[in-house]
Amino acid sequence: MRGLIDMANHLIGSSTVIQNNGGVYHEEISKKSFYLQKSLLSPQEISSIRDEIQDLCQDIDKTKFYTSNDYNNVLRVADIHEKCLSVKKYVIQSSQINTIASKFFGVDKAPKFDKCSYELKTSGSRDRDIADPLKENVVHFHFDRSYRVFKAIVLLKDIDSVNGPFQIVKGSHLISYGSWPQRLKKYLKYFQQILGFKNCHKIAWSEEKKYFDKSDVVSLTGKAGDVFFVNTGAYHRGSFVDKDREREVIWVYCYNENFLKKILKRFSIFK
Ligand SMILES: [Fe+2]
Repeated sequence: MRGLIDMANHLIGSSTVIQNNGGVYHEEISKKSFYLQKSLLSPQEISSIRDEIQDLCQDIDKTKFYTSNDYNNVLRVADIHEKCLSVKKYVIQSSQINTIASKFFGVDKAPKFDKCSYELKTSGSRDRDIADPLKENVVHFHFDRSYRVFKAIVLLKDIDSVNGPFQIVKGSHLISYGSWPQRLKKYLKYFQQILGFKNCHKIAWSEEKKYFDKSDVVSLTGKAGDVFFVNTGAYHRGSFVDKDREREVIWVYCYNENFLKKILKRFSIFK
């Protein structure tokens, strides 16, 4: 029942969950679906993280950690906080990141993070213009869950428009987002996702206008050491990385999945 209430609160866009002394955080993430904390990590902290990851990557069999979809090549190392002490110290144990996570979920104690990964993304071999958005799962907009999902993106290098910035449709986590036809289409997707329909949360390029306004899309660009906090209950995607460029980040996820959701997932007959 608590899960249902939480989901309903989120869908309605309740602001009761974020009571804090950081009015900016409250204002931004509850309205825009994201919040940028500039220079959360110092240049020294970033370089010790990068040095440690570079050492680690020399020792691992990288082929096991690469995924490629022709448009992007991604080196992803899961549980990086268990392999690199500096990630544990400066990211997972960061009091600021933990405080923001607890405020996000409206709890006193920071929730346990579900994932922490290192990700290095480079461009793939195929032209972006021929990408098929229905087949590729990284180049088109989608939402992760039909309820609040917390993700922090720690920038290890500067990201601008050519480094494949994360893009989010501001405000689209709210049940009140968009025109009525756009809302109804999203509610239908929520419903389908709860029932377990595969890929129902994705939006084909040709359909985007039916779900959101292009003017609401924001590219999250910033400097090394900045951290973006995002609610991926909003529409979002990782954009293409230009040739000879790369995007280097650490992801911290917290789904805070409730009991009801776990049961629904377990008994879903559609997946
Ligand atoms: Fe996603």
